Amino acid sequence: MPSIYAVAIFFLAALLNLVLSAPLAVRDVYAPPVLCPHNGTVWKVGHKHNVTWDISNPPAQITNRLGMIVLVKNGRLDIDHPLAKGFEITTGRFEIKVPDVKPGVYKLVLFGDSGNDSEEFRIEN
Ligand SMILES: *[C@@H]1O[C@H](CO)[C@@H](O)[C@H](O)[C@H]1NC(C)=O
Ligand SMILES: *[C@@H]1O[C@H](CO)[C@@H](O)[C@H](O)[C@H]1NC(C)=O
Ligand SMILES: *[C@@H]1O[C@H](CO)[C@@H](O)[C@H](O)[C@H]1NC(C)=O
Repeated sequence: MPSIYAVAIFFLAALLNLVLSAPLAVRDVYAPPVLCPHNGTVWKVGHKHNVTWDISNPPAQITNRLGMIVLVKNGRLDIDHPLAKGFEITTGRFEIKVPDVKPGVYKLVLFGDSGNDSEEFRIEN
């Protein structure tokens, strides 16, 4: 089959998928609030810490169960080097290893369907 047809079919399929899933657009967006780290938390480079979040209020149906944790410095998300990803967001915690970053004030964002950021905390050597 000429590849142009394959491409066309691919787009048609994608379009159809979009149309079919449109009525489901009212999806539950789940990005639970981060409990730890919080203001006052100090992480040491190279140490392991649990990131925890509040799972007391999940929607009935979670669209994206897999989470990702990203470090934020001065409002910039280090999306290329997530601290963790592909874990079950319903577990409420995930142990990460603090990367070798410059000491300073950081935040992190927990992604589910959307993102929720933590309070500011410190990373030190
Ligand atoms: C993010 O957390 C806040 C509470 O800190 C909560 O009200 C909000 O619904 C959360 N966002 C999402 C997208 O779940
Ligand atoms: C993270 O939490 C788990 C379960 O409570 C615990 O077994 C583990 O030791 C914790 N990790 C750290 C670095 O505190
Ligand atoms: C947390 O602490 C920092 C100072 O390190 C401060 O600027 C910030 O306003 C505090 N509060 C929150 C919610 O991050």
